[in-house]
Amino acid sequence: MANPSLLILAGDGIGPEVMAEVKKIIGWYGTRGGVKFDVSEDLVGGCAYDKYGTPLHDDTMAKAQAVDAVLLGAVGGPKYDNLDFSVKPERGLLRLRKEMDLFSNLRPAQCFDALADFSSLKREIVAGLDIMIVRELTSGVYFGEPRGIFPDNEGGRVGINTQRYTTNEIRRVARSAFELARKRSGKVCSMEKANVMESGILWREEVQWVHDHEYPDVALSHMYADAGAMQLVRWPKQFDVIVTDNLFGDLLSDCAAMLTGSLGMLPSASLGAPMANGRPKALYEPVHGSAPDIAGQGKANPIATILSFAMALRYSFDLGTEAERLEKAVEKVLADGLRTADLMGPEGGKPVSTAEMGDAVVAALDASL
Ligand code: IPM
Ligand code: MG
Repeated sequence: MANPSLLILAGDGIGPEVMAEVKKIIGWYGTRGGVKFDVSEDLVGGCAYDKYGTPLHDDTMAKAQAVDAVLLGAVGGPKYDNLDFSVKPERGLLRLRKEMDLFSNLRPAQCFDALADFSSLKREIVAGLDIMIVRELTSGVYFGEPRGIFPDNEGGRVGINTQRYTTNEIRRVARSAFELARKRSGKVCSMEKANVMESGILWREEVQWVHDHEYPDVALSHMYADAGAMQLVRWPKQFDVIVTDNLFGDLLSDCAAMLTGSLGMLPSASLGAPMANGRPKALYEPVHGSAPDIAGQGKANPIATILSFAMALRYSFDLGTEAERLEKAVEKVLADGLRTADLMGPEGGKPVSTAEMGDAVVAALDASL
């Protein structure tokens, strides 16, 4: 059987630096960990625009459709702020999500014990936290039509975006949340704004429909997204799986990320329908952005991207044991006190660079054999 294939799109800013550490780990699996991957690389975001005049070349799109999984770093930077909206770096990422139809975005927020004091919340609120945000990723206000900036009839302009969801779009992401809940603590909280938005009413009704007809064994609750944001910082451990739309998921997942101590810790998996080989269409990326202010200085934390690769092992390649091995290796280097700049709290620790953090994870993998 052919080796599983990966396409690496490191992107902009700290993307290439953190991805360099993931390449070490992929290399480790090839030589010592017993899983060889066929790896190819290409450009996305600002670097693709610089070379091709588009943030995602059609050839790159075609490659992404053909591989078993895409690993993405980050896109964007101040250099591209004034580009036309249609060629902004972010459009490359959004095109991948849309054309691969990656409707289910899994964003786990897990608080590692070694970092519990580093959260902006009290240790007892976050210690042991393990929640999963399932964000709808291919619809809603990110893609709804009509959209644009138009002249209004008072001599000014009007900016328009459209929040739009269909039954099918809501039901398929709800199913993926319920499936995850069955493997976890059997609890889903759905978040919308049904008090002010019709699309929120439909969301609530369709999630409830999927529950009643297909997953009556899972405990389902509903919450307005603003109250959900408040509850996330008040008592996050009340949640297990949260399912929400594209825009609310964007906000709530940044909020949940900070509970864990640093945005530099949060991985994500974006999954679509199964391909002919049974594996889901998949893209894995850290939740953090390109952090242009620290790019190229060896300060970035590679853990979110490393943990995104662990998610690839679990969700694309059914290698749950290997995913756990990698997650334990990360846990070990954190317990040993290794800290990139973003993790330097009042309690101190051993300051390390991006590359030193990656090397330490590889060493911990070695020690796990
Ligand atoms: C994310 C990011 C993206 C989003 C940007 C970079 C387009 O914030 O993945 O959360 O808004 O979805
Ligand atoms: Mg975001």
